[in-house]
Amino acid sequence: MVSPKDFDFGAHLFAIGTKVNCRKVHVSSRRLLSLADLSTQSRCTYTRFMNMHARQTGEIQRPLIDSYGRQVNYLRVSVTDRCDFRCTYCMGENMVFLPKSEVLSFEEIQTIIAQFVARGVRKVRLTGGEPLVRRDIMKLIAALSESHLAQGTLDELTITTNGSQLARHAAELARLGIRRINVSLDTLDNALFTEITRRGRLSQVLEGIEAAQAVGIAVKLNMVAMKGVNEDEIIPMMEWAHARGYELTLIEAMPLGEVALDRADAHLSLKQVHDRIAERFTLEHIAKRTGGPARYKRVTETGGTLGFITPLSHNFCESCNRVRLTCTGQLYMCLGQDDRVDLRAALREGGVEALDAALDRAMIAKPKGHDFVAERIQTPSVVRHMSVTGG
Ligand SMILES: C[S@@+](CC[C@H](N)C(=O)[O-])C[C@H]1O[C@@H](n2cnc3c(N)ncnc32)[C@H](O)[C@@H]1O
Ligand code: SF4
Repeated sequence: MVSPKDFDFGAHLFAIGTKVNCRKVHVSSRRLLSLADLSTQSRCTYTRFMNMHARQTGEIQRPLIDSYGRQVNYLRVSVTDRCDFRCTYCMGENMVFLPKSEVLSFEEIQTIIAQFVARGVRKVRLTGGEPLVRRDIMKLIAALSESHLAQGTLDELTITTNGSQLARHAAELARLGIRRINVSLDTLDNALFTEITRRGRLSQVLEGIEAAQAVGIAVKLNMVAMKGVNEDEIIPMMEWAHARGYELTLIEAMPLGEVALDRADAHLSLKQVHDRIAERFTLEHIAKRTGGPARYKRVTETGGTLGFITPLSHNFCESCNRVRLTCTGQLYMCLGQDDRVDLRAALREGGVEALDAALDRAMIAKPKGHDFVAERIQTPSVVRHMSVTGG
């Protein structure tokens, strides 16, 4: 599979310049270049050339390479914007959901995922909203499992869930080849759990987590760390999770959509949290990288893994390997930017060919990085909620 990072860019781009008769590509062959070093026009030429070349040579898989040389091999799909919780950092109390007619059908989701897989995507995560509240969701998971996991065209199909419906679906998920799952859990305190989620029941989520583990699904817990809300629970949560064999990842609240929570008040720097944990525990750096914003440490005393997702204080964009599909078929190339391509319109109006061309447009439009700034956390940098884009 082509990875621009593997190339001697000087020589390669010279060849491109010759082939596509583009005199704008002037690079030295003496040093390895990153695509990011080039002008926008040269980068676009490169992306177009790669796709044109692959089409002409009839390669089945034309990798999705953006104009900064990053290969997209991970797709997150929001299957619904609806949810049975109303977490204070994620949604307003009276969140208005989209009419069902605007949401992609299962057939459309399957077609879009199949096209991404044909273009080299190896990992798909279903999210939302709450993916497990969409009617007949297990039928979609079964279809994706059969067409991609069973055929070996996808390495991983996974979900991010609030866990409320997990107990009744865990066994079937395991049977369909789901090996790992992310479950959101911000507190182990009953009352606080109901306060944060506004309507969730902690016991239900804990049952779901246990059910998943019992059928052999590896569980990673996601905890949004909030100052004055659950910050005192971070260490107890880590000890609790690691004692049971769950990974824990801490997430900094991101400025997405208008919510009631005062984000400036609740903002907790994970750098400080890290240093506080490091006073009591040995945190060893581990090389695990997912191409996303998480960085991981091994906690010597517990033997468990602790992740930190710090979009506000850390720039993770240079290795970004993912794009996000909303439940209405909008493809966002960056969680923190508004650039998007309408895959639903492409598919409905022009079929699979138009969809494929839309993916090429998306690669050219994928921005260099996000625009979250800690000082501006109270004002959303991006007006859509995480439940719309898919967390
Ligand atoms: C939007 S949810 C969707 C999946 C599922 N409902 C869940 O809660 O896991 C995905 C993840 O995004 C996180 N999240 C939601 N809004 C967020 C925000 N504004 N900042 C940071 N994380 C957020 C949630 O905690 C959750 O771990
Ligand atoms: S974080 Fe997940 S569970 Fe909470 S309101 Fe958002 S979508 Fe629902």
